[in-house]
Amino acid sequence: MKIAVLPGDGIGPEVTRQAVMVLEALDLPGLTLFDGDVGGIAYKRHGHPLPEETLTMAREADAVLFGAVGDPDCDGLERHLRPEQAILGLRKELDLFANLRPAKVFAGMEHLSPLKPEIARTLDMMIVRELTGDVYFGDKGERKAADGSREGWDMMSYCETEVSRIAQVAFSTARAGNGELCSVDKANVLETSQVWRDTVIAAAAAQPDITLSHMYVDNAAMQIISNPSQFSVILTANLFGDILSDLASAAVGSIGLLPSASMGDRSTDHGLFGLYEPIHGSAPDIAGQGKANPMATILSAAMMLRHSFGREAEAARIENAVESALADGIRGGDLGGTHGCEEIGAAVLKRL
Ligand code: NAD
Ligand code: IPM
Ligand code: MN
Repeated sequence: MKIAVLPGDGIGPEVTRQAVMVLEALDLPGLTLFDGDVGGIAYKRHGHPLPEETLTMAREADAVLFGAVGDPDCDGLERHLRPEQAILGLRKELDLFANLRPAKVFAGMEHLSPLKPEIARTLDMMIVRELTGDVYFGDKGERKAADGSREGWDMMSYCETEVSRIAQVAFSTARAGNGELCSVDKANVLETSQVWRDTVIAAAAAQPDITLSHMYVDNAAMQIISNPSQFSVILTANLFGDILSDLASAAVGSIGLLPSASMGDRSTDHGLFGLYEPIHGSAPDIAGQGKANPMATILSAAMMLRHSFGREAEAARIENAVESALADGIRGGDLGGTHGCEEIGAAVLKRL
C-alpha cells in the first residue's frame, strides 16, 4: 500500500502529520509512506509548485494524502507558479475528475452547527463535484476593454463526455443511498449549464432507479441552509461544487471537519487510485500555531482506506474515533473549543 504524502503549505503539514499517525497506528500490512513537496514550499525549494519528482511519486503511488497549498508570499507570482496550481495540476494530470465531499452532522453534534438543531440534525449529503473541467481549466487571460481598462476573462465550458462521466459517478453514489440525486446548475443563464442539464437528463434515462431533480445554484445555496434534509446526493460542476462544499461545511459546524476524495477510473493492485484531502486550505491566519483542526484530514485518510484500499472496517474505525472524540467534547478553536492540533490527533488515536 504505497501512499504519497504531500503536506504542502500553512496548516497542511500540521494536519497531515496527525492523519499519518492515525494511519500508522492501524498497522496495515505493507503500508509505505513517501513524502513529497507541493505548493509554495515546493516553489521555494525547487522553483515549481508541482515538481516533476512529486508528480512521479503521486503517479507511482496507490493513493495520495494531500494537506493544503497556498501561501500569501506567492500570491503575486505568475499564475502557473502559484501554489494552487499544484493541486489543480495533480487533479488534471491524474485525471481525478470526481470529487466526493461528504457533509454530515454526526448524531448528537447538531449544537456544533450554527443552524437550528432541528434543521442541523437532518444534514447528511454527498456533494459530487466535477473536478477537471469548467471555468477552472478553460483558457484565461487579461486584455484591454473597449474603454482601455483592464479586463480579465476566463472561459467556462463543459462537453457532454465530461458531464456524462461525472453523472455516472453521481448515479452510483445515489444508488448506494436512497436513489435521490439533485443536479445543481445555472441553466437559466449559462449555455455551459444547459449542456450540463441536457446531458444529465439523457444519461439518467438509462437509470430508472434514480430519482433525478434539478436546481439552480443560487436556490441550492439557500436550500442547503434552510432545508438540508431534501439533499442526499448533489451533482454539480467544479466552481459551484467548490462554493457549495464550503457552505455545507459551515452548516455542519466547521470547514475543519470536511474530508474529500478525488477519484478517476484508474485501478491499482488494491482498488481505485485516489487523492484524499480536507476541503479547507492552508489557513495562513492560524498556520504554525498548533491550532488547526486535523479531523478533516484524518477523515480523508478514512476515505482513502475505503475507496482506494477496500478497507471499510478500518475506515469506520477512524470515523468512529473522530465522532467519539467530538462527542467527548474534544474540539479546536474552529468549533469554539481550546484543543490544539496535536491534542485532537492524540484524542482520536486514543479512541481508535
Ligand atoms: P482556508 O480554508 O485556508 O481558511 C478559511 C478559514 O477557515 C480561515 O479562517 C482558517 O483559519 C479556517 N480554517 C481552515 N481550515 C481549518 C482547520 N483545519 N482548522 C481550523 N480552522 C480552519 O481558506 P482561505 O483562507 O480562503 O485560503 C487560504 C489559502 O489556502 C489560499 O492560498 C487558498 O488558495 C488556499 N486553498 C487551498 C486549498 C487546497 O489546498 N485544496 C483549498 C482552499 C484554499
Ligand atoms: C478546494 C480549493 C481549490 C479549488 C483551490 C485551492 C484550487 O478551494 O479544493 O476546494 O478551488 O478547487
Ligand atoms: Mn475550495
